[in-house]
Amino acid sequence: MENSDWLKRKHLEYINDQLYFGGIRTIDLANQYGTPIYVINEELIRDRYRALKEVISMEYTNNRIHYSVKANTNLAVLKILESEGASVDCVSTGEIYLCLIAGFSPERIIYTSNNITNDELRYALEKNVIINLDHGSQLLRLIKIADELGINTKFISFRVNPEIGGGYHDHCITAGRHVKFGILEEDIVDAYKLAIENGFTNFGIHMHIGSGILEILTFKKSAEKFLSIVKKVRQETNIPFDFINVGGGLGIPYKPSENPLNLIEFSTTVLSIFKSSISDMGLDNPTFCIEPGRFLTAEASIILVEVNTIKKTKDKNFIGTNGGLNILIRPTMYDSYHHIINCINKNRDKMIQGDIVGQICESGDVIGRDRNIIEPEEGDFLAILDTGAYGFSMGSIYNSRPRPAEILINKGKSYVVREPGSFYDLERSQHIPDYLKK
Ligand SMILES: Cc1ncc(COP(=O)(O)O)c(C=O)c1O
Repeated sequence: MENSDWLKRKHLEYINDQLYFGGIRTIDLANQYGTPIYVINEELIRDRYRALKEVISMEYTNNRIHYSVKANTNLAVLKILESEGASVDCVSTGEIYLCLIAGFSPERIIYTSNNITNDELRYALEKNVIINLDHGSQLLRLIKIADELGINTKFISFRVNPEIGGGYHDHCITAGRHVKFGILEEDIVDAYKLAIENGFTNFGIHMHIGSGILEILTFKKSAEKFLSIVKKVRQETNIPFDFINVGGGLGIPYKPSENPLNLIEFSTTVLSIFKSSISDMGLDNPTFCIEPGRFLTAEASIILVEVNTIKKTKDKNFIGTNGGLNILIRPTMYDSYHHIINCINKNRDKMIQGDIVGQICESGDVIGRDRNIIEPEEGDFLAILDTGAYGFSMGSIYNSRPRPAEILINKGKSYVVREPGSFYDLERSQHIPDYLKK
């Protein structure tokens, strides 16, 4: 794909050597709101959701897309997807809380817990969301708590570990015998039997194998394995599954050399396995669920940073910015690639090679290693691409740097959807014991 086409897919383009995102000049946003800032493009989120919904619905109409909110929990993002008709996947009670505020009704919320506490079980039961457990012992605790609360719950889902994982980094592979998630094939039938013995009548089943997957073969193999496990549970328990959830993991092209996931191939591959399996099992039109995070929001956001120091040495050049691992930890944590481009191309003939770095006091604070870009001047802005998933949501106030603002853009206008943090945020929940006050 041509570089300009690759950018256009992400609603980015250069006009007169100036970078526009969603039709707005990026330097105008940087000047108006200051930097660093996250800029979120509403139209792109809607485009990605609609494209995925369309290809899945072409294959099988009874489907739900659960947006995996851990990718980006900004309330505006949640509202956008709520208005599109999405459901959500939450992994904490905090995420459930935000989704309820954003207007998702409980039946659209699945809570995929991991090492869930009793307080979290209580919260999920009280809020009446769909609960997806990953160990049988959690079910016994849930039953006890439901009894205490006087809640008569009949619906349960379990997360299966199909042992076929995928993902761009070891930390992102969430299936296999050595990862903590899900219930292995040899234990899954017992988990459902336990639920039946305890009066549960409605069931879902779930897997999530990893993140950032662009190869269809990985989805194919894991879907085959997962559905063979679903079949086994069905044969041994006769459970009429209400939903079957194949998880998320759909990748996006972070590098200009990468092509986007072929959505039609993805959907026909996974859904043909799904459809033939449910027909073999004699299941009556169960809901097909999928729970992408990255695919829906990653490309919809860029971070704008300002170059403040260009340090050239005999061995290496450093392009110092006011970004860093506090606002985008993926490069440091997973060695992830984020494309970085100039907001204004001042001097096309003058390239610089070097590390694009942030302000954090760590040598690992490298946003882009050994990059070739048009040499910016100090005071120029750069755009870090594809930061809408696991960008802000994995950010921190490390080095006591308050968090940047989030700006939503739509139809040529911009809106502050999260105020920047302040010094007050750094101290507000702290208490100094009296004896230290002297
Ligand atoms: C249970 C679960 N579902 C879905 C996702 C979404 O993954 P992705 O953003 O790669 O689609 C995750 C991410 O870690 C997850 O843990």
